[in-house]
Amino acid sequence: MARVAQFVVSGLLAATVANGQSFDGTSRSEDAFSYVQPENTTILGPYGHSPAVLPSPNATGTGEWKEAYAKAQEFVAKLTIDEKADMVTGQPGPCVGNIVAIPRLGFPGLCLQDGPLAIRVADYASVFAAGVTVASTWDRDLLYERGYAMGQEFKAKGAHVALSPVAGPLGRSAYAGRNWEGFAADPYLTGVAMEKTIRGHQDAGVQATPKHFIGNEQETQRNPTYNPNGTLTDVIQEALSSNIDDRTMHELYLWPFANAVRAQAASFMCAYQRLNGSYACENSKALNGLLKEELGFQGYVMSDWGGTHSGVSSIEGGLDMNMPGGLGAYGKTPGVGSFFGKNVTYAVNNGTVDESRVDDMIIRIMTPYYWLGQDEDYPEVDPSSADLNTFSPRSTWIREFNLTGERSRDVRGDHAELIRKLAAEATVLLKNEKQALPLKAPKNIAIFGNDAGENTMGAVNEATFEFGNLAAGGGSGTGRFTYLVSPLEAIKTRAKEDDALVQYFLNNTQIATNNVTDLWVPATPDACLVFLKTWAEEGADREHLTVDYNGNEVVESVAKSCNNTIVITHSSGINVLPWANHPNVTAILAAHYPGQEAGNSIVDVLYGDVNPAGHLPYTIAKNATDYNAPPTTELSTDGTHDWQSWFDEKLEIDYRYFDAKNISVQYEFGFGLSYTTFSISDINAEQVAESIPSIPEDQPIQPGGNPALWETIYNVTVAVTNSGDVKGATVPQLYVTFPDSTPEGTPPKQLRGFEKVSLAPGESRTVGFELMRRDLSYWDIVSQKWLVPEGEFVLSVGFSSRDLKEVAKITPVSV
Ligand SMILES: *[C@@H]1O[C@H](CO)[C@@H](O)[C@H](O)[C@H]1NC(C)=O
Ligand SMILES: *[C@@H]1O[C@H](CO)[C@@H](O)[C@H](O)[C@H]1NC(C)=O
Ligand SMILES: *[C@@H]1O[C@H](CO)[C@@H](O)[C@H](O)[C@H]1NC(C)=O
Ligand SMILES: *[C@@H]1O[C@H](CO)[C@@H](O)[C@H](O)[C@H]1NC(C)=O
Ligand SMILES: *[C@@H]1O[C@H](CO)[C@@H](O)[C@H](O)[C@H]1NC(C)=O
Ligand SMILES: *[C@@H]1O[C@H](CO)[C@@H](O)[C@H](O)[C@H]1NC(C)=O
Ligand SMILES: *[C@@H]1O[C@H](CO)[C@@H](O)[C@H](O)[C@H]1NC(C)=O
Ligand SMILES: *[C@@H]1O[C@H](CO)[C@@H](O)[C@H](O)[C@H]1NC(C)=O
Ligand SMILES: *[C@@H]1O[C@H](CO)[C@@H](O)[C@H](O)[C@H]1NC(C)=O
Ligand SMILES: *[C@@H]1O[C@H](CO)[C@@H](O)[C@H](O)[C@H]1NC(C)=O
Ligand SMILES: *[C@@H]1O[C@H](CO)[C@@H](O)[C@H](O)[C@H]1NC(C)=O
Ligand SMILES: *[C@@H]1O[C@H](CO)[C@@H](O)[C@H](O)[C@H]1NC(C)=O
Repeated sequence: MARVAQFVVSGLLAATVANGQSFDGTSRSEDAFSYVQPENTTILGPYGHSPAVLPSPNATGTGEWKEAYAKAQEFVAKLTIDEKADMVTGQPGPCVGNIVAIPRLGFPGLCLQDGPLAIRVADYASVFAAGVTVASTWDRDLLYERGYAMGQEFKAKGAHVALSPVAGPLGRSAYAGRNWEGFAADPYLTGVAMEKTIRGHQDAGVQATPKHFIGNEQETQRNPTYNPNGTLTDVIQEALSSNIDDRTMHELYLWPFANAVRAQAASFMCAYQRLNGSYACENSKALNGLLKEELGFQGYVMSDWGGTHSGVSSIEGGLDMNMPGGLGAYGKTPGVGSFFGKNVTYAVNNGTVDESRVDDMIIRIMTPYYWLGQDEDYPEVDPSSADLNTFSPRSTWIREFNLTGERSRDVRGDHAELIRKLAAEATVLLKNEKQALPLKAPKNIAIFGNDAGENTMGAVNEATFEFGNLAAGGGSGTGRFTYLVSPLEAIKTRAKEDDALVQYFLNNTQIATNNVTDLWVPATPDACLVFLKTWAEEGADREHLTVDYNGNEVVESVAKSCNNTIVITHSSGINVLPWANHPNVTAILAAHYPGQEAGNSIVDVLYGDVNPAGHLPYTIAKNATDYNAPPTTELSTDGTHDWQSWFDEKLEIDYRYFDAKNISVQYEFGFGLSYTTFSISDINAEQVAESIPSIPEDQPIQPGGNPALWETIYNVTVAVTNSGDVKGATVPQLYVTFPDSTPEGTPPKQLRGFEKVSLAPGESRTVGFELMRRDLSYWDIVSQKWLVPEGEFVLSVGFSSRDLKEVAKITPVSV
């Protein structure tokens, strides 16, 4: 009841201050939006000022999980209190996260492994294309296939839980170090990618873990600063607080996580940083309120590694599993004490925590385990994972782990083929003039750049590797390559078919500081291929948006002397490309992080075996200074709670911002060329639901929230035609412009539909976009509901966010 009262009060406040409503109930006036951190931290901080949403709701085993829920209930009834404490607390062991076995009940424990593009701590496993790469396909089937293939590998290695996929960061800031692990700077595209990936993982039998919930939009100060001379939990400065208003929370950051719950994700990982003043892993408004109540999440919440900062308050706040179990920051303390562990036993015995809450934690953990059949013939943990695990090496293990499974199992299957296809389909053709691409059997090829060749320093990428193809970023989201096909290797192989001359220059300093005509012999090459890379990793935000290793100078140097300079970037995402309009730069391809078949994938595109169909999942601005919402990287004060990040741009991230401010860009969100051309015609919008009242029907909550929000209410169709002369695929995209009656701050247009369609030359097909109620609603902070605003919507369909071809106007009718 307290919760409801709080919303009514804050909702009224909000209504009178024109949406100046903070997510935690703190109101701010419209003209205060520009303010930075006030000295007075009691306004949002310190710690613990998000509204309390208590108690933590029990799982109820709704829908498909009913039978598994009953099994989980039976299981928990057999546990002693110490076993219960074990079930919710990680231990050092063979995997990145471990729940110990309970042999007397035949429970083998749980093995949790990174990450979003590969099972990282493993040998003989594949390295897939990164999230940003696969998002660039805008291809629902490929997203699912990748999720499924990854799931197969986790399972075959004995991992019960895959710490994947990522919707936080969403991409608020162009600089955030982990954007590439997630999908797109747009909630709709990311939502679809989450849903497809999760279904893929779980159909293969492994539990998915959408992360990092929520507001994890930068790396800087994501964790507290600890006193190196103090105890493990002696904090000098608390982690950054992401301060997000209620509407922005729902319409941007929570949106893709709602898709994740709807896809029946087994577990959620809460984020490191604070959210509106209190740590994300003990933020009851986020975990109990948004996730478990509003979205009806039935699985369990695990902490990010070292992201737990309390025992009882975290448990009450909705955290169900403490990972990796010990105290302190990431990596510091395997096996040392725990906010959970024995403390759970104490807290239950002394009456602070109700045992039914601990039971609920375990039921939430065990329901997906039974639902996915993990109690039946699940593969054992591969002992090689333990050898490779530097996070909790054998010397740190306290409990017993019997690793009797076969060592070094090869789990790659035929996934190389899929990885090659994925990355080729994901390659975004940004520029193609003078018919530079596809290559037409060139006889003289020059290759430039330190990204082209072999990686000479190891199987797991690091920031310091100057030479070598960059096919994955760094941190827990990386992968261990069993091999990597470099672009140089693949081009050499392909060029043999044409008996071509292949010359290569891999030292960027040499290229940038020389007249390249002194390098190549005898004549100007038919094609100069320049390979550039851009590193990004967990734990650090990017310092700039340009390509690394003097890449801009490399391009300038080559383009001075080669009138067919083709640039390929392997990058974490956003790069500004100052040479994009250089007349000798005839083609640009953004290949992102393609995974282990990098060279083959790009050769397929360069030579036209695959017609590129990738589209940007973010905007490339003309100038780095054009981007808003930079990470908070510096403080002028040293107060404990001073790290604050105000999401004052609200809904205006990426294209929403560039559109709202009418800023011209280099390549807009959704942009991508093909070797053929397409046209769109005959838009038609049909109201499917008989009546569309503004307020959704209050249906019982299911995973994903009120089912009424997911009902199709409109169907929009267009005809798409391949008007060129080669086969190819394109991605028509639907953007919604809301009626004027929608509260202020609504972006000019928002993606609400896309469909990849493959067409033979001359072929035409009808493509449908089914709009759900949520797609045509805004989050009303007063009623705490998604409402369809009154008036006329404009639906625009085109090939990018700024290349809109057809427009339909609709006014939903309520009868
Ligand atoms: C800080 O802000 C709170 C809430 O507005 C106010 O009650 C308090 O007096 C302020 N403290 C200082 C030192 O300004
Ligand atoms: C959860 O269920 C238990 C019974 O198993 C009950 O005692 C407890 O009150 C319930 N908690 C909530 C928050 O409903
Ligand atoms: C930790 O101890 C060192 C050595 O005494 C000292 O220089 C440093 O300032 C101390 N750091 C903190 C945060 O107290
Ligand atoms: C209980 O939690 C405290 C921190 O609050 C920690 O210092 C202690 O080691 C924990 N006890 C156990 C047995 O893990
Ligand atoms: C009960 O135990 C918990 C965990 O050790 C501790 O944090 C809490 O202070 C204890 N409460 C009482 C009343 O002893
Ligand atoms: C390990 O194997 C031994 C011998 O079979 C058994 O007694 C013990 O319970 C096992 N321990 C675990 C944690 O599985
Ligand atoms: C790269 O070229 C520069 C300039 O020619 C040279 O100084 C440097 O040693 C070269 N690096 C390597 C690794 O050969
Ligand atoms: C590079 O050298 C060639 C041959 O000497 C010369 O024609 C050309 O102008 C030089 N280019 C640049 C950019 O200096
Ligand atoms: C383009 O390349 C040609 C050599 O093919 C060169 O003569 C010309 O100056 C270059 N143009 C620019 C703008 O650098
Ligand atoms: C580059 O210059 C050569 C020689 O002038 C010319 O034959 C060729 O068509 C030019 N290529 C492009 C892509 O402009
Ligand atoms: C980018 O913007 C900054 C600041 O307005 C300006 O100094 C710089 O020259 C611009 N760079 C380019 C390449 O336009
Ligand atoms: C929407 O239109 C497409 C294309 O005509 C069609 O396949 C689909 O069944 C339609 N969906 C609904 C809900 O009418």
